[in-house]
Amino acid sequence: QDEQAQARIREARAKLGDKAVLLCHHYQRADVYQHADLTGDSLKLAKLASETDAEYIVFCGVHFMAEVADILSSDKQIAILPDLAAGCSMADMANLAKVERCWRELSEVLGTPDEHITPVTYINSAADLKAFCGEHGGIVCTSTNAPTILDWAFGQREKVLFFPDQHLGRWTGFKKGIPLEDMHVWDPDLEYGGLTPEQIKSAKILLWKGHCSVHQMFQESHIRRWRMQHPEGRVISHPESNLEVCRNSDYVGSTEFIINTIKAGPDNTRWLVGTELNLVNRLAEEEKPRGVIVEFMAPTVCMCSTMQRIDPQHLAWTLENLLEGTVVNRIEVPPHEAEMAKVALDRMLAVS
Ligand code: 13P
Ligand code: SF4
Repeated sequence: QDEQAQARIREARAKLGDKAVLLCHHYQRADVYQHADLTGDSLKLAKLASETDAEYIVFCGVHFMAEVADILSSDKQIAILPDLAAGCSMADMANLAKVERCWRELSEVLGTPDEHITPVTYINSAADLKAFCGEHGGIVCTSTNAPTILDWAFGQREKVLFFPDQHLGRWTGFKKGIPLEDMHVWDPDLEYGGLTPEQIKSAKILLWKGHCSVHQMFQESHIRRWRMQHPEGRVISHPESNLEVCRNSDYVGSTEFIINTIKAGPDNTRWLVGTELNLVNRLAEEEKPRGVIVEFMAPTVCMCSTMQRIDPQHLAWTLENLLEGTVVNRIEVPPHEAEMAKVALDRMLAVS
């Protein structure tokens, strides 16, 4: 059945020619990834989506990525997500109602939050949250450009509200030398985030209580045990991992950074990698011929189960529909939301 789907994808792609471009995130499963025209991390894919001329942008990634493609491409282009259930559990940990409530509560403590706090949303968030940042002088960041974006944010106002990933926010702040006691977790399910007025007033960064279900599996103890067996080995992690994992890694960066660092590294090296399993398996396969061993950090299997939903069957079905002139699973951000989200995304693209 899988072979059949592969053949259907190849045939439909050949017939569609330049009308459709397949953008693929690095976490995508191998049987889909092999069909990609262009691959990248979130930042690279956002830039590619803004540059392509293809009529159809078929996004093999998750929902927020296809939204970004829709926002950054022209009105005539159509963004498609082959399975609409491919969401991001971290992105779902923040929503507009909760962020607006947070903003209201902050205004009770600080006066006008727009004068004191820059809202920064990780690109792993819904379009209406990017629009919120656009409206309130804020910005979007990715795991690649978070340090540059944080500098920009502090250039605007003295505090930052960072959502939805507490770990990326904490690691980025920590690397900038912001003391951990000046970064407080904002729990959106508690009044005033569970913080006292004093904590809110003294905080440099308020970190939304969100995380990635995949990267939360990695623990500092995995690194410690591995280093005892392989003292000469190198450890590299994605900044969605917790602070202790990042602190104990030799390198920390986005998926694109992880790929480039391992590929540029010396032959016959052993790596422990703290990021999603499909990417780690692909790197292990590609690097094997030059004696590079790439190992996965957690003892349990952890894939991005939502991205995994984009399978060959859904991709084949999507492309065949396009051939017949039917658009299925279009991702279309409402115009006002798209306009304000683009303000925040354009700020990011201008800065990074
Ligand atoms: P990248 O920006 O590294 O692609 O990360 C996106 C993501 O969702 C990682 O979990
Ligand atoms: Fe979201 Fe985590 Fe999947 Fe990345 S790996 S898309 S943050 S659930």
